[in-house]
This record gives sequence, structure tokens and C-alpha cells, in this order.
Amino acid sequence: MSEENPNPRHVGIILDGNGRWARARGLKRSEGHKAGGEALDRLLDQFLDLRIPYISLYAFSTENWKRPKMEIQAIWSLMREFFSSRLERCLEKGIRVHASGDLSRLPAVNRKLILEVIEKTEHNRNLTANFCVNYGSQDEILIAATKVLHRRLDLAKKDKKKAAALISKSELEKELFTYPLPPVDLMVRPGGEQRLSNFLLWQSAYAELYFTDTLWPDFNKRNLMTALKWFKSRPRKFGGLLESQD
Ligand code: FPP
Repeated sequence: MSEENPNPRHVGIILDGNGRWARARGLKRSEGHKAGGEALDRLLDQFLDLRIPYISLYAFSTENWKRPKMEIQAIWSLMREFFSSRLERCLEKGIRVHASGDLSRLPAVNRKLILEVIEKTEHNRNLTANFCVNYGSQDEILIAATKVLHRRLDLAKKDKKKAAALISKSELEKELFTYPLPPVDLMVRPGGEQRLSNFLLWQSAYAELYFTDTLWPDFNKRNLMTALKWFKSRPRKFGGLLESQD
């Protein structure tokens, strides 16, 4: 029997199902997002207990701007509340906050709060919580490629041959919003859909994909443990062969 995998180092989570959770209770969608924020709080504690060092959370996508203004405002308001009230806790528990996405389109107060929490928690190492806000993976890759291109154009003034060389993976990865986080090992999507929805496409090249019908606000420790147990049993080959297949 092959050995099981250790826990993942980096888990991505698509926070899906808040709206349906609220509808099933006759509540407003914003109440679903509030419950989603509470589920997030509980989960961060579980990641700390399990010593899983990196978690990426899809909190607002570049496509979520298509939602009604009221709902978007409710999400910004929840995030403001979250980041202003959790700083002490992050410092106490050693959580480092990282953000991925184009923050320039966020309300100024949100942007300021997030940047402040990032700065104040930058030396924490127990858990890095990467909040993906106004994030879209395709945009992220285009922005990274453009940054590399600009550097290459500069380089071309001195050395045309070097400037025309193939871009390396590490060169591009340094420009991704998620840098210096490691690749995603396990991607979890609650809420019943089975797709990545433009989330961490580059970083999930070899991620194991775990889908569950449980709606995000209901996602609890038991769901997490089930996902981890499943992950540990996956044969991870990264394009090679397992020892047993030699
Ligand atoms: C997707 O569920 C969820 C979102 C677009 C927003 C997620 C936001 C939070 C959990 C708020 C708190 C966030 C932080 C970072 C504190 P959905 O609305 O698409 O659900 P549905 O598919 O059931 O409609």
C-alpha cells in the first residue's frame, strides 16, 4: 500500500454558497455573506491547529462586480468589519495577512485597512491567509506577463538576445499577486459547483480538486477533516510515476 500524503501546505478555498444558504433561511444575501465571514473565522483557527501554513480565500472576484450594488456594498462593509476587528487576533495568533488582486478599485477605506493589516502582520509565520479580493487569475497572469515584458524591453536596449529568451516559470511567478506563496496543493470548492471560476489557475496546476455540496457558511471542522483525509489518499504523481508503477 502506498503511503499517504502529508497535510497540504497550501489550501485554496472558493467561498461559494452564501446566497443559497441565506435564501434557504428566508434571509437577505448579505446575511449569507455575514455567516460566510463567521465560517471563515472558525476555519482560520482550524488551520492554525492543524499547522497548515498557507490558505487562499476567494472573497471577491473580478467578475463579482456584475452583482447588484447593494450586495457589493454589503461585502465591502463585512470586509471592513473583518479587517478592523481581527488585527489583534492575527497578531496574537501569528497570522500573516496577504492580499491578491487589484486593490485599486476597492473603496479607499477597505484598501487602507487591508494594507495596514498586511504591514502589521508581515513578520507573522504561523499561518499566511491570502485574501483574494477583486482577483481574477487570467488578469493576474496578464499583469505579470506585462511586467516581465516591460523589463525585457529595457533589457533589449543592452542585450537583444537575452531579452528574446523564453520567460522562465520563476520569472513570471515573481510577478503574480500570490508571490511568494507556494503552489496550491488542495483546492476546496463548497456549494456544489465543479469549476475553478478563474481562481489561482497557474498556482493550481497540480492541485487536487475537492468539491462538496455543503454550502460555505455550513462548512465546518468535519468537512475540513473529510477533505484532508481525501487529499491524503490521493496518488500525487506530478506527471511522473508512483514508486509502485516503476
Ligand atoms: C460567493 O457566494 C461568495 C462571495 C461572492 C462573497 C464572499 C464574501 C464573504 C464570505 C464575506 C466575508 C469575506 C471576508 C474576506 C471577511 P455566492 O454569493 O455566489 O453564493 P450563491 O452561489 O449561493 O449565490
